[in-house]
Amino acid sequence: MMSRRTAGNVSGNLQTVLICTLLLTIGVICVNFSSAKRADGVGGEANRVILDESPRYHGADGSRLLRGDPDPHAASRAGDASGRASSEYFRRFDPDLARASCVPSGSGKKVIFITGTGGFVGFHVAQALKKQGHGILGLDNYNSYYETSLKRARQTKLEASGIYTAEGDLADAEYIHKLLRFCPFTHVLHLAAQAGVRYAAKNPYAYVQSNLLGFVTILEEVKAMDKTLPIVYASSSSVYGLNTKVPFSEDDRVDQPASLYAATKKSNEMIAHTYNNIYHMSLTGLRFFTVYGPYGRPDMAYFFFTRKILEGEEIQIFQGPQGEVVMRDFTYIDDIVDGIIGSIDTAERGTKGSAQYRLFNLGNTHPEPVTTLVENLEELLNKKANKRVVPMPPTGDVLATHANVTAAHDAFGYQPKTSLKEGLSRFVEWYTQYYGVTLPSQA
Ligand SMILES: NC(=O)c1ccc[n+]([C@@H]2O[C@H](COP(=O)([O-])OP(=O)(O)OC[C@H]3O[C@@H](n4cnc5c(N)ncnc54)[C@H](O)[C@@H]3O)[C@@H](O)[C@H]2O)c1
Repeated sequence: MMSRRTAGNVSGNLQTVLICTLLLTIGVICVNFSSAKRADGVGGEANRVILDESPRYHGADGSRLLRGDPDPHAASRAGDASGRASSEYFRRFDPDLARASCVPSGSGKKVIFITGTGGFVGFHVAQALKKQGHGILGLDNYNSYYETSLKRARQTKLEASGIYTAEGDLADAEYIHKLLRFCPFTHVLHLAAQAGVRYAAKNPYAYVQSNLLGFVTILEEVKAMDKTLPIVYASSSSVYGLNTKVPFSEDDRVDQPASLYAATKKSNEMIAHTYNNIYHMSLTGLRFFTVYGPYGRPDMAYFFFTRKILEGEEIQIFQGPQGEVVMRDFTYIDDIVDGIIGSIDTAERGTKGSAQYRLFNLGNTHPEPVTTLVENLEELLNKKANKRVVPMPPTGDVLATHANVTAAHDAFGYQPKTSLKEGLSRFVEWYTQYYGVTLPSQA
């Protein structure tokens, strides 16, 4: 038999064990609750705790945050489609360059997180915004959809102007989570995407990864950090799909996409609407119309026609099933940059009860036949193209695009200024310098 004292000790010990177990259980539940909130991106408060404890932008050593900050939920966030883990990106991140890049040149300036700065549009707009004195942090994964040497050349030029691009994937939530806390951002400009209409037939998953998962990742991470931040993002004229009423207006129905690319861009607009509706996030979508210019995209017709004409290769000119001429509303990059800056300048923070939900066409409003594009190039390159007219393949191209830009004009005075001829001549000038080409007349 147990003595009273022993029994008393045992029951005392049991009580202690039970109380401790209870406390531990509550502790575990609390920890699980906060981690669940973090993991699904809803836990703004949980995030703040980690944020406030972290040595970040204002701290002495931002590098610690981005080099091995112990994040208990990293496993659910780490990695990207390429299989690279966030930690690989963190190792490459240069906190000193990033911090300097974010610092604006004076009071009243913005601090903007720009995705896709390795790309054509991101490169130009980042430079223009930096010139205006705004602080910038870029992001790009420098994927090999087209020649990475061109993306790296843009990176080098941006770095020379003090603009740092963090290397990593949009859909890597852990990385985006940390980058968004590295600078005191006032705006997000989201341009990174898998672009191109025809490539979707070859690699559809790239569009799902970057344009759908990547888009939601940006929205979720901005929401978790500060859902009042205005977000301006790239949509596309391709959302007009098979519509035949021209010019295209923002209030036209757009539910006939002709490509997976177009479908992802249209989805972005609908997802943006959802976040605006539920969380009152400020979202502005920009429907760009066939942008061209120096440091442009080698997968676009004006660029590869130039290359092929110079190399004497055949170029294929598409025509519609009834022999229709294909028309594009070619828009020069400087006009697009003006439109993006106008959108950012008029983007307002979300408030508790409401926020902007805007969509703007950014085009040239003067569609030209693709044959005119070729004639201009022939003249500028001083060389005849070896042309072949072929039926348009069923890979997502549309017959004609034409922007109505009244909404952008009314909202921020958007007014495209550059004619196709003028813009192409600036492109050809850049092209010949960049690739070291001597034009036939100059030989
Ligand atoms: N250029 C045009 O004519 C045009 C027309 C309509 C819409 N747009 C849209 O405008 C935006 C910019 O286009 P662009 O012409 O500069 O294209 P781009 O391909 O030159 O630039 C996009 C950049 O995003 C990067 N990127 C892609 N997926 C990424 C990911 N998962 N993580 C990180 N970075 C990633 C790419 O490496 C690239 O540097 C895109 O959203 C595009 O869909 C462009």
